Amino acid sequence: MALERTLSMIKPDATARNITGAIIAKLEGAGLRVIAQKRVKWSEAQAQKFYEVHKERPFYNDLVAFMTSGPIVMQVLEGEDAVARNREVMGATNPQEADEGTIRAEFAENIERNSVHGSDSAENAAIEIALCFDESEIVG
Ligand code: CMP
Repeated sequence: MALERTLSMIKPDATARNITGAIIAKLEGAGLRVIAQKRVKWSEAQAQKFYEVHKERPFYNDLVAFMTSGPIVMQVLEGEDAVARNREVMGATNPQEADEGTIRAEFAENIERNSVHGSDSAENAAIEIALCFDESEIVG
């Protein structure tokens, strides 16, 4: 096992319902440590850049509109195998397929309004963290 970092985001459906604390409790309960955190409202350009990899997907425009519809909480999580551990506690992208006890099974409304994002690989985690945080904002 390796100490890793991953990028986590709490999405507008969750900030609107005032459940950021409940979500962070699940992340911490899974052994992940929040080592950077900020609440922001993305511009359209920021959301487009973050989700550029999905540009050709049919849901891209809706996703950008949703992710700019309200505040988000961006966090760097650190822990043993943090990328996989975060994805495990998040549950499947589609909440109907998410295992019981996961964040998405408990809180997500649907596949778009699915409460959280997490990097899908260590490589993408490094890219996403660099996109969202200055090194000086990551404080352990
Ligand atoms: P996320 O982990 O943030 O990465 C891309 C997001 O696109 C995904 O979570 C979903 O919220 C959203 N999305 C909307 N529709 C779909 C879909 N049909 N398949 C995959 N992701 C989708």
